[in-house]
Amino acid sequence: MAAFFFGLLLFAMQPPPIPSRPAERGDRGPPPSPTASSPLALNDTGATGHPNGTLKQLPHILIIGVRKGGTRALIEMLSLHSAVAAAENEVHFFDWESHFQKGIPWYLSQMPFALPDQLTVEKTPAYFTSSKVPERIHDMNPGIKLLLILRDPTERVLSDYTQVFYNRLQKHKRYQPIESLLVKDGEINLGYKALNRSLYHLHLQNWLRYFPLESIHVVDGDKLIRDPFPEMKRVERFLNLEPQINASNFYFNKTKGFYCLRDHGRERCLHDSKGRAHPHVAPAILHKLYRFFHEPNRKFFELVGRTFNWN
Ligand code: A3P
Repeated sequence: MAAFFFGLLLFAMQPPPIPSRPAERGDRGPPPSPTASSPLALNDTGATGHPNGTLKQLPHILIIGVRKGGTRALIEMLSLHSAVAAAENEVHFFDWESHFQKGIPWYLSQMPFALPDQLTVEKTPAYFTSSKVPERIHDMNPGIKLLLILRDPTERVLSDYTQVFYNRLQKHKRYQPIESLLVKDGEINLGYKALNRSLYHLHLQNWLRYFPLESIHVVDGDKLIRDPFPEMKRVERFLNLEPQINASNFYFNKTKGFYCLRDHGRERCLHDSKGRAHPHVAPAILHKLYRFFHEPNRKFFELVGRTFNWN
């Protein structure tokens, strides 16, 4: 109950949702359908062209997740690079049946117009945890480059809870306090979906059945929050992009408490729904949660041959 009123108070303090970019689909409902008047025409290569010489291409890069890992920050930061054209919204092509059934031409229609030598990137964080998705992406392009941004799994659960909490608040629906979702009969509640999404090793195993580890670059979402520039250099290297993003593209905004972006003199921060306060969780439950993730984390580190500073 206390968490509910705490959220109500925070919610009342939120300014109206005017995003720095168009709204994200994962947060705000399905994408618009292509219109009959859309200036698209399929050319010989299967890409769709525009009279001004730009064209729509299937993605060369996918940000596959994880939900609340920092996926919006990552795609915005990647868009600082002139060789990258990013889809503005989450397309949910491979995970939503209704979209997948529309086929590749529809998927292509959701991509941004890009110059022929630009790389197209799309992000849909739900891809990472959807079991049917890796095979479908592999069928489209087995050589695609995958970016996976992860955060401390406990932090991610709290962030996930916070997002659902605000979504329900917006719909004037109540939501359970986080403690009652995390623990059932004194034990960690494995049935809580947000908890399952943080079992990174389980989901990654599914991807590794279709893609070699070399095709997947794991971005450290905690480091991206604290100091985005070095993480973005690593991303540039993984994508074989000419080094272009630099330290002056980022500045720390004390009011927001996060790094914001500077692009050709224009400064912008992420939408207010990114970087919200998380609910207070009783220390004993928090410790239980950290302990619970210890073994899954170890398995994940083994899979990727790398460790992360997750408690
Ligand atoms: P919180 O809102 O829980 O803090 P996603 O875009 O995948 O939904 O991830 C949202 C998370 O991105 C936020 O979670 C926030 O911590 C993180 N993030 C990383 N860099 C950020 C930045 N520069 N500005 C705002 N949020 C950022």
